Amino acid sequence: MSTRWEHGSDFHLEQRTGELDAPWTEHPHTLWGSGRDAMRGLLAWGREHHGWQRVWVPSFYCQKVVAALARELPVVSYVDSPEHPLRARLDADAHDVVIAVNLHGTRTSSGIVTRGTVVEDHTHDPFGTWARESDAPWAVASLRKTLPLPDGGVLWSPRGEHGPAVRPLTDVHARAAADRLAGMVLKHDHLEGRDIDKSAFRACLVAGERAMASGVLSGISAFSAARLPTLPTAEWHAQRQQNIAAFADAFGSPSRVRLLPSSFAATLVFDRPEHAAWVRESLIAARVYPAVLWSLASPVVDVPAEHRELSRRILTLHCDHRYTTADMHRVADTVRHFIGSAERVG
Ligand SMILES: Cc1ncc(COP(=O)(O)O)c(C=O)c1O
Repeated sequence: MSTRWEHGSDFHLEQRTGELDAPWTEHPHTLWGSGRDAMRGLLAWGREHHGWQRVWVPSFYCQKVVAALARELPVVSYVDSPEHPLRARLDADAHDVVIAVNLHGTRTSSGIVTRGTVVEDHTHDPFGTWARESDAPWAVASLRKTLPLPDGGVLWSPRGEHGPAVRPLTDVHARAAADRLAGMVLKHDHLEGRDIDKSAFRACLVAGERAMASGVLSGISAFSAARLPTLPTAEWHAQRQQNIAAFADAFGSPSRVRLLPSSFAATLVFDRPEHAAWVRESLIAARVYPAVLWSLASPVVDVPAEHRELSRRILTLHCDHRYTTADMHRVADTVRHFIGSAERVG
């Protein structure tokens, strides 16, 4: 149990162990340095072996991922956002690749009908129903968004196809993963009350993040490859669902804010972007650090104006295994308090 309370932001190094229960272990799979490396590795392979020519991405999506994919193939967007059901029919060519994303982990199948090759991105719910029941040719997930690992991405084929061979670990990636790991260890020590300043672990985490997925495609670090099979994923997945429910219970339904269904995080949609910004800043000052999913301020592809505006109204709060029901109640009460003051400020 931590002696210094804070909520959100990067994982610290976790001591708990158990057994990996993941959809890819039953299928051909490869481990990569990051989710982006896994996706780029697949695209480079498909370009060479199947003549893949173009990638379709959702209009509401992580723009760092879009920029990474654009290093391999031209990218176009299709309309998809957390507020709408995934469009059923997509007029892609047979040599196109379509990225279908479980944006908030609430989708139970892709629902996309297309002539292109579907690649599912299960980063936000790698252990949920859609990932487990998928029959897509390809699926990917970043491991470090749901698991306390310094690096890692996985590519698997629910259909049983064999894809790109894994790449060796590069020096650039090894250094990035080592910085992330150092930051996770120091954050653990800080939370335990040791004399380690926040700036020390933040510097390592930020440096590692900046270098992640920046260079030549890489395999996963030895640390994450060895840790992955020992992580209690089923227990942590269940804990996340309990935490989301605990937040919803305590949050209730304050006016001018909606809670979106999600199996990943507590996702609030404000009526006004200024209120979302005010609440975010107030939370940070109270040591509650929201996630950003995603900034669409400078998109790499076409993004409808209403999706850009929506991204400024969304606030995402972590609900993972680090937290207890009591933590989630405390966070919900804090958010409610700041929502009240945001309304008073105007
Ligand atoms: C939905 C989604 N897919 C893929 C990625 C890429 O993962 P990574 O940062 O490990 O490259 C991210 C995070 O950046 C993400 O949020």
